[in-house]
Order: sequence, then structure tokens, then C-alpha cells
Amino acid sequence: MITHKGTKTIQTARLLLRRFTVEDAQAMFDNWASDERVTRFLTWDPHTSVEETKEILSAWCAAYENPDSYHWAMEYDGTVIGGISVVRFYDKRECADLGYCMGYDYWNKGLMTEAAKAVIDFLFTEVGVNRLEIAHAVKNPASGKVAQKCGFTYEGTKREAFKTSSGEFLDIAYHSLLRREWASGRKI
Ligand SMILES: CC(C)(COP(=O)(O)OP(=O)(O)OC[C@H]1O[C@@H](n2cnc3c(N)ncnc32)[C@H](O)[C@@H]1OP(=O)(O)O)[C@@H](O)C(=O)NCCC(=O)NCCS
Repeated sequence: MITHKGTKTIQTARLLLRRFTVEDAQAMFDNWASDERVTRFLTWDPHTSVEETKEILSAWCAAYENPDSYHWAMEYDGTVIGGISVVRFYDKRECADLGYCMGYDYWNKGLMTEAAKAVIDFLFTEVGVNRLEIAHAVKNPASGKVAQKCGFTYEGTKREAFKTSSGEFLDIAYHSLLRREWASGRKI
């Protein structure tokens, strides 16, 4: 059964996962939101001004009023370097879809895997989900690697299921982790 808890602060070995504030705008803009290397496979285009980042952050902060809003800022060495969220929550089937992105300078240090494992543990333990999903462009294998390192199982690929703003159709791979797998130690 689902018991929503909202975005609670989580400490990991190297990261503080906490709510975003509007004061994070400059760091978010500088570290990832304005960088097309980061947004290439995402549903949004790079921000062109810090004002745009502030507007998005205001909306995210307002959404924290809802107990089913899960959106963590990743703070590393006192700097906000990325975010991890539940993109969509399916209460009826006790399932959540995870999404994440992080500044280019911080890639390939295991940081997103560390954040995702902590969020996964929180969602199974505190919120009570039965299933988690991660979807990513096949052309973006680093995202699939994060899912794999968190114990997810590859389920299949939808062909040309996403169109980028530059007009490219992308194949999307789907991964999932079930409560019983997580509980039996597949969380790794
Ligand atoms: C995807 C993303 C979150 C990964 O974060 P990260 O902190 O670099 O992830 P980790 O370091 O925990 O793991 C990345 C793994 O992918 C591997 N990897 C990186 N680039 C790769 C590539 N081109 N092909 C195959 N594997 C790759 C890394 O070697 C690492 O695996 P390892 O630990 O076995 O060496 C980060 O690259 C990002 O923010 N990208 C832009 C936004 C995005 O694409 N978000 C996901 C949308 S679905």
C-alpha cells in the first residue's frame, strides 16, 4: 500500500539529497540546465537564461505542497550538481517512474547510481511502491547503466518512441525493479 511522504532529505556517502529552492537557480543553470550535452536525450531544451531556470524552480517548489511530489536536488561538496525525481507516480498499481540528470563535469563518478540507490530504498521502504521504472534513449547508454547497477531488469525497447526537439526519432529502452527483487538483495 502506498503512503506518500513527499521529498524528504536523504544523506548518502557523498551526496545530500534535499528539496530544490529558487536560490538554486544560478547553480542549476550553470551546472546543467544550460548545457545541451546534458539535455540531448531529455524532454526539454537547454535553458537560455537563469530567469527560465528560476521559473521552473518556482513551479517545482510549489509542487512540494503535494505529498506525492518527489524531486531531489543533489548537493555535492556544497554545490547543486543535478536532480533526481519521480517523473510519474501510478498510485493504483503502486509504481513510480524515475528520471535524473546531472552536470557534465560530474559524470562517470558513480554519483547518479549513489543517488538512485538511496531514492530507490526510500521509495520501497518509506512509500511502499511495488515497481520502479526507468526509461532511456538507447543512444544514451550511461542512463541504462545506472539502472543496471541499481539492479533493474531490461524489459524491452520501443522503436522510435520519442522525437527530440531537433526532429530525431529515438528508440527508448525500458527497465524495471520489483519489490520482491529489491527485497531479496538485488538492490546490490
Ligand atoms: C545518465 C547520467 C545521469 C549518469 O550519471 P553518472 O553519475 O555519470 O552515472 P554513474 O557514474 O553512476 O554510472 C554511469 C555508467 O555509465 C557508463 N557509461 C558512460 N558513458 C557510457 C557510454 N557511452 N557507453 C556505455 N557506458 C557508458 C559509465 O562507465 C558508468 O558505468 P561504470 O560505473 O560501470 O563505469 C548522466 O550521464 C546524465 O546526467 N546525463 C544527462 C541527462 C540524462 O541523460 N539523463 C537520463 C535520461 S533517461
